[in-house]
Amino acid sequence: MIPASFFSQMGLSLYDNGYLNTSVCRSTISYIDGDRGILRYRGYNIEDLAEHSSFIEVSYLLIYGHLPTRTQLDTWNTRIMRHTYVHENMIDYMKSFRYDAHPMGMLVSAIAAMSTFHPEASTALHGDQIYDDPRMVNKQIFRLVGKLPTLAAIAYRHRIGRPYVYPNQDLDFTGNFLFMMDRLSETTYTPNPALVRALDVIFILHADHELNCSTAAVRQLGSTGIDPYISVAGSAAALYGPMHGGANEAALRMLEEIGSVENIPAFIEEVKAKKRKLMGFGHRVYKFYDPRAKLMRKTAEEVFKIMGRNPIIDVAVELERIALSDEYFIKRNLYPNVDFYSGIIYKSMGFPTDFFPVLFAIARTTGWLAHWREQLMEGTPIFRPAQAYDGVSPREYVKMEDRESAVDESVFAGYGAGGANPRKL
Ligand code: CMC
Repeated sequence: MIPASFFSQMGLSLYDNGYLNTSVCRSTISYIDGDRGILRYRGYNIEDLAEHSSFIEVSYLLIYGHLPTRTQLDTWNTRIMRHTYVHENMIDYMKSFRYDAHPMGMLVSAIAAMSTFHPEASTALHGDQIYDDPRMVNKQIFRLVGKLPTLAAIAYRHRIGRPYVYPNQDLDFTGNFLFMMDRLSETTYTPNPALVRALDVIFILHADHELNCSTAAVRQLGSTGIDPYISVAGSAAALYGPMHGGANEAALRMLEEIGSVENIPAFIEEVKAKKRKLMGFGHRVYKFYDPRAKLMRKTAEEVFKIMGRNPIIDVAVELERIALSDEYFIKRNLYPNVDFYSGIIYKSMGFPTDFFPVLFAIARTTGWLAHWREQLMEGTPIFRPAQAYDGVSPREYVKMEDRESAVDESVFAGYGAGGANPRKL
């Protein structure tokens, strides 16, 4: 690893549009070997964690660096579950969204709004030295990890017009989430333990992925000294994009559009002609099978045992088979990523398609917070990437009366002259 300052000493700077080959921090949280399809959290293989751990245990591991003892896990779990309740004003705030608001838009806004509910966490009001105190750091972590599922469930219930369900602290993290999503009038509502476990595994697989776009966002925003609610809201906003966490939603919509196995060859031709992208395929880092996609496929079978087989899986499996034997995909090392199968599982579990990125955000919040905490401990200068200026050379100011139209008028096409209302005299 060569420090970039080495080049500046020689009067050189590096152009790296999209950070294809630039490290902006040192981190000890997760490790990816993209050529061999390896993912580790704090040194542990993702396969072992998915098999033996719970999501809440993995969250502790990511944030604090080691697997918790039984006592540490109990304390951590209690702290998180105690912070699952949200202020009643937050419920009112979420109720103010339109009935058809995208749940990810609601979630991003609600996380940002948390900043106003916890003014003692504001660096604008109290200075960024408040986070020299580990108790302040931990308190915001408990709140964010604990409240994310609650906010997500409120967003879901608002969309379908059902009253919000208060958290049940007798259940575990993921069981409580499903409880808040689904309980109606039952006095005892117990989510199916096999589905709880399947979702828990999916959360483990999504919890961290080194410096992806949304995690880079948490570090970028955090480097300004802003509070973690604003930073995590910014990360969730980055996650929303279809190239990133929104890919699970896009992948399922794509599979449904393809509809049946006979339509795959025509779709593949469109992809190869660059008219479409095969969503849920390809990765900046993995040039091999994403290990998370393998585990997802296994989890899909577990979910089908309970919910029934979703026929769209046949389209996905055949699409994968055809793509993996096609020269276009082989040459570019394009394999299924985590989002190729996750959407099918979510759909089979009954989650609406636009809710998929929300599920991703619940899990990834722990990764974002691990990076936020690590950055606080390591310290960082404010992120200020350079740009390569490609604009015009210095020129004389032109007065209005001397200007010739240099702007492409089509920019304003369809707006009417000066934005006038044609129905108004
Ligand atoms: N379908 C068709 N062609 C693709 C795809 C795809 N999904 N992904 C990459 N390519 C092609 C691309 O057109 C390019 O071809 P060429 O060399 O002829 O110009 C080549 O493969 C290299 O692609 P790239 O865009 O330079 O690769 P990247 O590393 O910049 O992009 C990616 C990575 C994930 C944005 C991209 O693969 C993609 O858009 N995939 C679909 C969206 C998706 O599934 N995203 C989820 C990623 S995993 C979850 C997460 O971590 O957020």
